[in-house]
Amino acid sequence: MSYRIPFNRPCLAGNEYRYIAEAIANGHASGDGPFTRRCHEFLETELGVPRVLLTTSCTHALEMAALLLDCGPEDEVIVPSFTFVSTANAFALRGARLVYADVRPDTLNLDESLLEPLITPRTKAIVVVHYAGVPCEMDSILAIGARHGIRVVEDNAHALFSRYKSTYTGTLGCLATQSFHETKNFMCGEGGALVINDPEFIERALVIREKGTNRSRFFRGEVDKYTWVDLGSSYLPSDLLAAFLLAQFEARETIQEKRRQVWNRYYESLADWAESNGVKLPVIPADCEQAYHMFYMLLPSAEDRESLISHLKSQSILGVFHYTPLHLSEAGKKFAARSSSCPVTEDLSERLLRLPFYNDLSRNDQDHVTTTLMKFRFRAFSRRAS
Ligand SMILES: Cc1ncc(COP(=O)(O)O)c(C=O)c1O
Repeated sequence: MSYRIPFNRPCLAGNEYRYIAEAIANGHASGDGPFTRRCHEFLETELGVPRVLLTTSCTHALEMAALLLDCGPEDEVIVPSFTFVSTANAFALRGARLVYADVRPDTLNLDESLLEPLITPRTKAIVVVHYAGVPCEMDSILAIGARHGIRVVEDNAHALFSRYKSTYTGTLGCLATQSFHETKNFMCGEGGALVINDPEFIERALVIREKGTNRSRFFRGEVDKYTWVDLGSSYLPSDLLAAFLLAQFEARETIQEKRRQVWNRYYESLADWAESNGVKLPVIPADCEQAYHMFYMLLPSAEDRESLISHLKSQSILGVFHYTPLHLSEAGKKFAARSSSCPVTEDLSERLLRLPFYNDLSRNDQDHVTTTLMKFRFRAFSRRAS
């Protein structure tokens, strides 16, 4: 079914076709060509980090992180229950057992006050997700990691260019992962990146990303032939995708400004209505700058969410739910270290609704979304009103 206002619409920044044509003309369509190098340089410079490697997805960057940390069957990895499967699956693939943390009711990010009791002598890593592009409480999480000698990885899929106390997220953990899937602020259809903040991982990351070979040393002229030296896979994207992505990166200011305006318009138009209908809008901590990745609302009940999704559909608007709790999923239970209790995740995952959000969402279309929302009668509200 197609909608007048879809949930997401991939938006071009302008130079995508030109750069792809250039990439084809360059005669380097495989990975690590000139456009990949330019994307690496862009992110390394903007974020001020030692090394960034483009990958075929954020999922694959997370798999690289699990390999780099040598996660195995003896290890436990703490992940929020409220996240995309890849955050957990990447570590389960290495045999690690998962421990699910509940999230904060305000930001929906891993609740740092619940973290320490989840740590055991087997804990190898804590993976945080900056949900909706809003940073986690990183000082506390990093301090807990340091106190216990546990590595912190940031799944920064939603949050490129958000700042925690003036520092970019994705630069705080030893490793971080980015997504350039078509729903993200900067996209190339499918794509991702591994951000390497601890230089000790650089050489091995190059090997893992190149099928476990020392091919990059060969290209640098350091060995006369390349060979299989470690586990790895094919995690590098074609230079054609990097060409598309570079066009998006170069429009960073424009893209972020458009998204900031969409987010602010939703917030401002809906604030009063939300307040009087028991709907919660996103909370952005005062010391954080968000990435304007999505706009979600927490509705009074699961039934309200279902009815509101249908109401929006009737006006050709697609609103969507988000993650279902990992700790309750079939695989989530199978790969868990032990059973977990995550009541906040269970509650909010049933009530969360995401609104259409893309760079080129017009004022008119956005007004149509907000006026349609405001015509909806919540069950509790109509009971109160009658
Ligand atoms: C928090 C989070 N991590 C990882 C991913 C996976 O990203 P990708 O599709 O680039 O593999 C997603 C997907 O949206 C996500 O929401």
